[in-house]
Amino acid sequence: MAYNLLKGKKGIIFGALDNKSIAWKVAERAHEEGAEFTLSNTMTALRFGQIDQLAEKCGAEVIPADATNVKDLENVFGRSMEILNGKVDFVLHSIGMSLNVRKKRVYNDLDYNFLNKTLDISAISFHKLLQTAYRMNAINSWGSVVALSYIAAQRTLYGYNDMADAKSLLESIARSFGYIYGREHQVRINTISQSPTLTTAGSGVKGVSGLLDFTERMSPLGNADADECANYCVVMFSDLTRKVTMQNLFHDGGFSNMGMSLKAMKMYNKSLEDPEVDGVE
Ligand SMILES: NC(=O)c1ccc[n+]([C@@H]2O[C@H](COP(=O)([O-])OP(=O)(O)OC[C@H]3O[C@@H](n4cnc5c(N)ncnc54)[C@H](O)[C@@H]3O)[C@@H](O)[C@H]2O)c1
Repeated sequence: MAYNLLKGKKGIIFGALDNKSIAWKVAERAHEEGAEFTLSNTMTALRFGQIDQLAEKCGAEVIPADATNVKDLENVFGRSMEILNGKVDFVLHSIGMSLNVRKKRVYNDLDYNFLNKTLDISAISFHKLLQTAYRMNAINSWGSVVALSYIAAQRTLYGYNDMADAKSLLESIARSFGYIYGREHQVRINTISQSPTLTTAGSGVKGVSGLLDFTERMSPLGNADADECANYCVVMFSDLTRKVTMQNLFHDGGFSNMGMSLKAMKMYNKSLEDPEVDGVE
């Protein structure tokens, strides 16, 4: 159901790769809610992903950019303002990647060049995006910027590796820049901390199917999926949330405030009955 929540609003959506991407779902929902926007992703993603289909569906132009490259970001904001005929009202940063995860380098055996890349792509790119927008005065007053995060920023989750450090930094940037951008231009900046979700990036997380089952059992409302995340992003871009800023907003069915649930406890007890679990014959 559409509510015209973004009627007349203009934006930029970074990070739609294929139809499983969270950014893809956000683009579809933003389009349904009346927004006009441009899409951006890396040249590689444009070549191997399906973003052209999304662009056609939403009547959006695609502007290639490596989000770690400030010149590319300047081009995205400059071109977007030309195409959309003015400043934007919302921006989605839905970008993440770890070469340590991809190359199976565990947290106590990190490759530091990979770590630098993880931090640059998954967190510092958010600062670069915000600083570029700020310098170009590219976001309207009461505009809204959202980046996607994960609870590994606060709690240790097996296998999330150096992405946990990247998410902590991402959330910190949202607070630090949120103060300045709010004070100077009434622009709000938040992160949404999403449940584990089966996307290309999500599937890279070690033991993701077990993790999805665990968080599903632990969350009173169950895991939040990508469509539900898109709904939340749309609300955050709308005028209904004008005084929400510098927050990390959990969108996880309640997982972040749980310690143990009945459903998870039942599973745990069942596994204790399995003689192989702790090596007892
Ligand atoms: N899937 C999950 O379980 C989950 C949970 C919480 C948060 N998130 C976050 O959501 C965001 C989107 O991920 P997703 O799950 O939709 O997966 P996805 O793989 O569809 O999206 C990741 C995107 O990052 C883009 N990207 C990578 N390097 C880039 C660069 N240098 N410049 C610009 N773009 C670049 C990729 O091309 C891709 O489009 C990420 O920040 C991810 O960490 C995902």
